[in-house]
Amino acid sequence: MEWTREMRYRSYGDWSAQTLLELQANALKSTFKLGYHIMPSSGLLNDPNGFSYYNGYWHVFYQAYPFGAVHGLKSWFHLRSKDLVNWEPLGLALKPDCKYDSHGAYSGSAKEVNGKLFIMYTGNERDENWVRHPHQLGAVMDENNQITKLPQPLIEQPKEVSEHFRDPQLIWHRDAYYVIIGAQDEATKKGKIILYKSKDLEKFTEIGYLDFTDQDMGYMIECPNLVFIDDQPVLLFCPQGMAQSACAYDDIYPNCYLVGDKVRLDAGKFESSHQIKNFDEGFDVYASQAFNAPDGKVYAISWVGLPDVDYPSDNEGWAHCLSQVKELTLKDGQLYLRPVKAMADLRYDGQPLTATPAIQQVQELVADSGNQYEVKLTLAANQQGTLNLAYDPQTKQSLKVIFDTEAGTLTLDRTDCGQSFATDYKTTRTAEIKPHAALDLDIFIDNSLCEIFVNGGQFTMTSRFFMEPGVRQINLKADQAVAFRGTFWKMRSI
Ligand code: FRU
Repeated sequence: MEWTREMRYRSYGDWSAQTLLELQANALKSTFKLGYHIMPSSGLLNDPNGFSYYNGYWHVFYQAYPFGAVHGLKSWFHLRSKDLVNWEPLGLALKPDCKYDSHGAYSGSAKEVNGKLFIMYTGNERDENWVRHPHQLGAVMDENNQITKLPQPLIEQPKEVSEHFRDPQLIWHRDAYYVIIGAQDEATKKGKIILYKSKDLEKFTEIGYLDFTDQDMGYMIECPNLVFIDDQPVLLFCPQGMAQSACAYDDIYPNCYLVGDKVRLDAGKFESSHQIKNFDEGFDVYASQAFNAPDGKVYAISWVGLPDVDYPSDNEGWAHCLSQVKELTLKDGQLYLRPVKAMADLRYDGQPLTATPAIQQVQELVADSGNQYEVKLTLAANQQGTLNLAYDPQTKQSLKVIFDTEAGTLTLDRTDCGQSFATDYKTTRTAEIKPHAALDLDIFIDNSLCEIFVNGGQFTMTSRFFMEPGVRQINLKADQAVAFRGTFWKMRSI
């Protein structure tokens, strides 16, 4: 089916309830469905929005287009949780139903202010020539999860910024509110982050572009986020068209982070002596949203999906999912990402994995793993081999984790792993690990999603993969006996 502009932007009220039910029933049949991650009940999901804590619950929203696996007229879908793992869907929350967001309620953030959840997001309005007029809008959610939009935009497009002006993140820093927004400079067409300050969330004063790098950030920066970990500033952002010299990446667009030394937001300065890095070393992670939570921790959640890339589940009427929530910490200027505590509550039927004195070249670790599991493995130093995840004994396909703990490399390879997709952007990702050292892997498989935490969270590798249904095994292939220990758990659905 051809998705015309008219169809993508048809108002929600013009789709019948019956059609939506059919779309949902259809997506439910998909064999790629996830068990313990947030996915759309139909249509497309993209960025996480409004990730926050309010009224005794964690809240997350996501960019939703419920009527097809395409980027159409966007709204916010709402979920809440007591533990950051079990999420309760609450339905569409912010709909594109006013003048200022008539062509999409785009991404934004949320923060508790005076007993209410204050939401800031981008509304798109298009004129008769289809020219986009972005507005930074406000809304307020009460204890009953009722959202009231503020009648007037909070921030309008400044003259130096093009129509690419979106994704406000609202934070409180020292004695004032600040908002950082993704932008494209009108004159140079370069990607920027623009900064505003407010005392009262009514009047916003422009400070200017955030000065955080001298490198070329491409033509647009989407979804900027600023968090403070142990008082050290960390910037997350998604530059589009960024030079490889600034940070090497393989995805169509990277999701980067930069650890800072200090910020002077009043002066628009983010000072850093660090390198820009990939927030994830695998595939498919984009638009991550992080925030300083009232429990003193910093949490992040990501869109697992990329703009301008087709995925096999599109043909089954749904697209994309959110990552699990990760806790962010810093050690020696390096970001660490870890699963949250309640992830362990999903485990059942744990079984230890040990190396039987291995003479075979392929050692079966789990004969029937199913599609939802966590496996933790410690592989000894100075070994080479391949861990085959989701191994299908019929087709011999698998998602491969290729390790060399002697030279210090780790590769995630989805080349021979069901339906191929995004092949213009390589089907392997390789990251460096410490040579001559043991390797710790904490791997989460949720049917068509894999998330790997490496060496206690030094980095993660994430990938979607789309295999035909069948028996699933885990095995280890190596030319020599590989020393390891580990544990395998099945994971229940949320
Ligand atoms: C990033 C993004 C944002 C925008 C939203 C629209 O994936 O393009 O910049 O607000 O998605 O859905």
